[in-house]
Amino acid sequence: MNFNLCMCIYILGIESSCDDTSAAILKDNIILSNIIANQKVHENFGGVVPELASRAHQQNIIPVIHQALQTAKISKNNLHAIAYTRGPGLLGSLLVGSSLAKAMAFGLNIPLIDVDHMQAHILAHFIKYDDTSHVPEFPFLCLTVSGGHTLITLVRDFFDMEVIGQTIDDAAGEAFDKAAKIMGIPYPGGPLVDKFAQQGNPDTFKFALPKIKKLDFSFSGLKTSFLYFIRDQLKKNIDFIEQNKYDLCASIQQSIIQLLMDKVKLAVTQTGIRHIAVAGGVSANSFLRKELQRTGDKMNWKVYIPKFEFCTDNAAMIAVTGYYKFINQSFAPQDIVPYARSLKI
Ligand code: KG4
Ligand code: ZN
Repeated sequence: MNFNLCMCIYILGIESSCDDTSAAILKDNIILSNIIANQKVHENFGGVVPELASRAHQQNIIPVIHQALQTAKISKNNLHAIAYTRGPGLLGSLLVGSSLAKAMAFGLNIPLIDVDHMQAHILAHFIKYDDTSHVPEFPFLCLTVSGGHTLITLVRDFFDMEVIGQTIDDAAGEAFDKAAKIMGIPYPGGPLVDKFAQQGNPDTFKFALPKIKKLDFSFSGLKTSFLYFIRDQLKKNIDFIEQNKYDLCASIQQSIIQLLMDKVKLAVTQTGIRHIAVAGGVSANSFLRKELQRTGDKMNWKVYIPKFEFCTDNAAMIAVTGYYKFINQSFAPQDIVPYARSLKI
């Protein structure tokens, strides 16, 4: 496909699968706007409360779309299609985005495009934002690490993807968030663990790492090992967490990233593919980004790390997936329903 060929297709992307309400406008694969409203309402609950998420989406979605159109300097009448997240995610949240997408597509008499959230995380690499953006070459391997998923996918083409490894229990983002919760760090803990880890020594504490066969992952044992270690230390010193917060964050972060990196190396050995991309919220982690780049340089891989704003949930990735589906004329009917759990991508 020629990436410089301008078809001038304007697509509105809508993302509402979890706790971020987002709308983006793309002209072909070029980003014009990407507006994200984070939901602060969950902070006091230590995790996302589905009912509150749906209500917050309902409040945010129209202003967010307005702002996306305004920033892109286009009117809704210029749009050629509406792409939205069909799943996986929280059903109530998905219903808000899908209902609005359907109504808009119907009202404007333009195609509706359903997008798989996990596919979109991977295709976020194809968003063109300036002359420095470079897209992965097919075939490539993508490590997708988010709050709900941990996958290694063999990507042969835009819509020809095969999951070759996945978690058998917790996701990598969940491991960050649960470790943070044990230390009393507010939800979502991943970004704060990353921040505190920068001032700590990753070799201070060692935790048991699971030996899972093949390309699958497991994080629940690591979480339990971390929990028991902290519990035992607190019995001896009530201030243990506060006194060791930075080293604890650095050490647990190193363990999680080591598990991820070991599987990526195995996937390269098994497939012979040396083009490696990373996607999803945890790909914002500074240690993972450094480790991937360092290992890539050493092992002669070509590594693709997304721009920070395209790692966590955003509508630009939904719109770019919508653009490639638009080219294939792959549209959705009005009676399509969302799905909460992953489909085979
Ligand atoms: O992809 P995402 O925005 O939402 C899902 O689809 O799940 O990922 C959210 C996850 C959360 O678990 C969050 O703690 C984690 O990504 N995360 C991070 C960082 N930024 C976000 N984990 C570690 N380090 C970060 N810098
Ligand atoms: Zn996501």
